[in-house]
Amino acid sequence: MAGRFDGTRTLVFGAAGTIGKEIVLDILGEGGKVAAVYKNRKQAEASTPDLPELEKHFCNVESIPQLTQLARSFLDSIRSFDHLIYTVGHCPPGDFERQVSRNLMSLDDQTLEDDFGILVTGLLNVYREFTHLLNARGRILVVGSAITRFPVTDLPPWLNAGSYYIAQNAQRNLVEWIRREDDLLSREIGVIRLAFGAINTPFHAGSIPTHVPPKMLELKQVVAEIINALKSETPLDWDILA
Ligand SMILES: NC(=O)c1ccc[n+]([C@@H]2O[C@H](COP(=O)([O-])OP(=O)(O)OC[C@H]3O[C@@H](n4cnc5c(N)ncnc54)[C@H](OP(=O)(O)O)[C@@H]3O)[C@@H](O)[C@H]2O)c1
Repeated sequence: MAGRFDGTRTLVFGAAGTIGKEIVLDILGEGGKVAAVYKNRKQAEASTPDLPELEKHFCNVESIPQLTQLARSFLDSIRSFDHLIYTVGHCPPGDFERQVSRNLMSLDDQTLEDDFGILVTGLLNVYREFTHLLNARGRILVVGSAITRFPVTDLPPWLNAGSYYIAQNAQRNLVEWIRREDDLLSREIGVIRLAFGAINTPFHAGSIPTHVPPKMLELKQVVAEIINALKSETPLDWDILA
């Protein structure tokens, strides 16, 4: 049976993550080839099992030398891509409660920089280093958070996470600026941003019951939305809430 990704190549950043891992498996299951990028070698080995159509690479998205080297290796082996997915973030198991309990006064010096590093600088680096490897009419898809649709004044008082909120909004702005780039427009490369509400993942484990959203998206649904968006004719900018 023909798969929807037969004959395509997809580059995935954040491939060891909760969402990234499932995206990789779904695209492989639909007949696509995947170049998965992990933060380090250990992650690459521990994540998805070795499969014939899966290439594993490791690279820190904040390191331009590492990204340049990886992009050059693709160029040298004359490989180009139909899709580039950016699902880099920091939502490890049980961390939601810690992230939402810190107000700006209690953040350490590094937190805002880290959130910007993975959500904004990393995306800009990846855009700059890899877009020339995308085929005409290809797609860039960024996985973001639907928190950006809410004005600060509408957020519940217990939900601190100001650093995450600010960086996610900056990422949304960056996507808008990427969409204006001449090179992308002339090659008809679409930039999709799908911004999800809370997802039923181990990230929420151990949270105070009143901080657990009454309705959450299921991971399968999230991945299905991502796969469908890549196949849609018109690039999308969607907030998806449960
Ligand atoms: N989970 C949710 O409920 C939820 C809801 C809405 C939106 N989102 C957003 O969706 C995106 C992905 O979420 P997720 O749940 O899949 O997060 P995740 O499980 O933490 O996965 C993110 C992946 O990115 C990797 N990464 C972090 N920094 C990196 C760097 N400098 N270079 C390369 N890779 C790096 C992480 O590696 P390490 O683990 O080694 O750092 C991890 O494998 C995030 O932007 C998140 O905010 C998540």
